[in-house]
Amino acid sequence: MNGKRVLVTGGAGFIGSNLANHLAADNDVIALDDLYLGTPDNLDDDVEFVDASVLDDDLPTGVDVVFHLAALSSYKMHEEDPTQGARVNVEGFVNTVDQARQDGCDTVVYASTSSIYGDRTEPSPEDMAVEARTGYEASKLARERYAEYFHNHYGMTLAGMRFFSVYQGFGGNEEHKGEFANTIAQFAHQIAEGESPELFGDGSQTRDFTHVDDIVRGLELAADHELQGIYNLGTGESYDFNTMVAMINDVLGTDVEPVYVENPFDIYVHDTMADVSKMKADTGWEPQISFEEGVELVCEPYLD
Ligand SMILES: NC(=O)c1ccc[n+]([C@@H]2O[C@H](COP(=O)([O-])OP(=O)(O)OC[C@H]3O[C@@H](n4cnc5c(N)ncnc54)[C@H](O)[C@@H]3O)[C@@H](O)[C@H]2O)c1
Repeated sequence: MNGKRVLVTGGAGFIGSNLANHLAADNDVIALDDLYLGTPDNLDDDVEFVDASVLDDDLPTGVDVVFHLAALSSYKMHEEDPTQGARVNVEGFVNTVDQARQDGCDTVVYASTSSIYGDRTEPSPEDMAVEARTGYEASKLARERYAEYFHNHYGMTLAGMRFFSVYQGFGGNEEHKGEFANTIAQFAHQIAEGESPELFGDGSQTRDFTHVDDIVRGLELAADHELQGIYNLGTGESYDFNTMVAMINDVLGTDVEPVYVENPFDIYVHDTMADVSKMKADTGWEPQISFEEGVELVCEPYLD
């Protein structure tokens, strides 16, 4: 993408700031965020930061592409207040897309989630049945339905990206997420501090861990190709938490044992794995950062 005027909502957040900083090299980028969780410290100087909510009625105008990443981004935030979760994640989405439409912008790339696949040790394709078991998942599915409406009724193109466990580490732009950050970011930080990470159950749960640089490339390609519909962004490989902890110890040269605790959540996704063949076929995108390399990148800031 080159020479465009781009709006990134949730632009001070983890994925949004990585995307905004990347695109600002060749584009005019506005990062909009109400700082519910994100921080402008994540943004480079060449990104214009706007402190505003996706619920506002005077969002930035004259943009060519909207990347809508703003959200109450975790399950817990929605259980505390499902109405506010719907307001931000659903109404905020409709408000942003409709203002873009009225202003003449018809390309939108937005964040859905892979949690709606539930527990899967097999690769999950986009066309399989999905389910909302939490307010967060319901809000993301509602976005997908509204995207269908904006496409069918107004001819806009909207790409709904179902991300799989995105990480970068506290040395990157993930630190503001704290307890909501990816487990690998939290565990690497704890192990580097000599603290035992807490693993729910026996540590056999698996995730398709995806480095944020691969997500950023995927989001840019989604806009370049004006993708329409739903796309997975993951790696197609999964690792269990025990293996992840061993890999972190290996890179850090430590020997910190995890502690195993009873899983406190009644709703919990045990396993995830992406089928990324659709994204590969439609854009040529491939994940480039293996989990081994990703663990090294996350651990790097802790090595002398
Ligand atoms: N990180 C992951 O593994 C992952 C996985 C699946 C989906 N997602 C989705 O990707 C998107 C980005 O997630 P993230 O990991 O960067 O989380 P994040 O919480 O760092 O980013 C979300 C940003 O949205 C902002 N925000 C919240 N309410 C807002 C409002 N009313 N107006 C404007 N900004 C508001 C927050 O301040 C935050 O900076 C989210 O939609 C999330 O649901 C993330």
